Amino acid sequence: MVAVGNDIQEKLISEAEIQEKVKELGKRISGDYGDAENLIVVGILKGAIIFLSDLVREITIPINLDFMAVSSYGTNIHSSGAVRILKDLEVDIEDKHVLIVEDIVDTGLTLKYLLENLKSRSPKSVKTCTLLDKPERRTVGVKVDYNGFNIPDRFVVGYGLDYAERYRNLPYIGVLKPKAYE
Ligand code: PRP
Ligand code: MN
Ligand code: MG
Repeated sequence: MVAVGNDIQEKLISEAEIQEKVKELGKRISGDYGDAENLIVVGILKGAIIFLSDLVREITIPINLDFMAVSSYGTNIHSSGAVRILKDLEVDIEDKHVLIVEDIVDTGLTLKYLLENLKSRSPKSVKTCTLLDKPERRTVGVKVDYNGFNIPDRFVVGYGLDYAERYRNLPYIGVLKPKAYE
């Protein structure tokens, strides 16, 4: 039988480390929004779904869940920064608090686009939460309000993160073996 972990060179962040961090983030978010009404948690498909589903179960205040799916134009490694909406929100966020949940912030282009797009809809506030941040890769400035881990510029997959749509179901964050993408 083929195992999804076979292509992993090194476990970068374990299941236990992730769960501890998710609990901590959930507690912080619940505290910060404690008295706010109408918090809408927006998961960014597809990468964020595993993190999102663990995170919301550590948030103890009432929330609404919604999703967006976006894609960068072109297939270049060097993205143009133009982003296309594949699936938009179903709810109206006007006058609501919004928390965008991402799996990773890399160049920052996706999050920058999302922030600008959602801010134009007159929400009460928009904040951002990501499990992983690769600060070395940043090309545009974006504010990350809740960050799980800063990671080095390595080829990571798992816990929602893919390479060519694979490895999202790996339960930890791993570094891909070069032979898997060469
Ligand atoms: C990945 C990741 C973030 C984005 C980060 O999504 O999930 O959404 O790239 O990169 P950036 O900071 O350079 O914009 P991807 O476009 O691969 O789609 P996916 O979530 O469906 O895998
Ligand atoms: Mn994504
Ligand atoms: Mg991807």
